[in-house]
Amino acid sequence: MAQGYFITGTDTEIGKTHSAVALTRHWQAQGRRVLAMKPVASGCEIRDDGSWWNDDVARLSAATGQQDLALMNPYRFLPPVSPHIAAREAGQLISLEVIAAHYQRLAEEADVVLVEAAGGWLAPLTDELCMEDMARRLALPVILVVGMRLGCINHALLTARAIRGAGLTLAGWVANRVVPDQLAYEDNLATLKAAIPAPMLLEIPYQG
Ligand SMILES: Nc1ncnc2c1ncn2[C@@H]1O[C@H](COP(=O)(O)OP(=O)(O)OP(=O)(O)O)[C@@H](O)[C@H]1O
Ligand SMILES: [Mg+2]
Repeated sequence: MAQGYFITGTDTEIGKTHSAVALTRHWQAQGRRVLAMKPVASGCEIRDDGSWWNDDVARLSAATGQQDLALMNPYRFLPPVSPHIAAREAGQLISLEVIAAHYQRLAEEADVVLVEAAGGWLAPLTDELCMEDMARRLALPVILVVGMRLGCINHALLTARAIRGAGLTLAGWVANRVVPDQLAYEDNLATLKAAIPAPMLLEIPYQG
């Protein structure tokens, strides 16, 4: 059975997918078979040939080589809004059991499975559930992607506290440089290393 990780972040658009791709390459280089999952994706497009397209699913599948995009991504929505709103508008019910079943199938075929959440830790999934509930249902250790920019220390520490408060393991964190010239970057990094109660797994430079 695979080792799974739930990838969360300090916010939306701070490099969860970017980091998941980097982690995939890192583990592939060690000879491990990595598969990825984006259980819920909003902001999808329908292409001229009628196929669905989502940027995260495309980037993750390009890195892992997965062909079965429906297995990777059971829930997909057109509007680029929070999943609970997109699902309500589409009249669809997001089920943690469906997501867990898809995860199990991937876990049977891989050494590592990365599950990329949508948004941040408490981002709503349905009117009742949030991303934390998904991580808890899958019972996965969590990797926190910190988008390195002003304000990230507060977001990172709040998220780390919430993860541990949920009874889950914070397996590690990624320092992802989302802006080219964060002031006092090294000081910020040192503060995060001292304050986050888990190891930094990867430091990703700005790649603009
Ligand atoms: N290290 C980096 N250097 C340069 N650009 C980056 C870096 N990390 C992320 N980006 C860019 O920032 C944007 C957001 O990154 P990404 O899509 O990985 O975020 P995300 O947290 O997965 O977003 P979402 O919440 O939509 O899933 C992308 O355009 C990506 O190319
Ligand atoms: Mg993403």
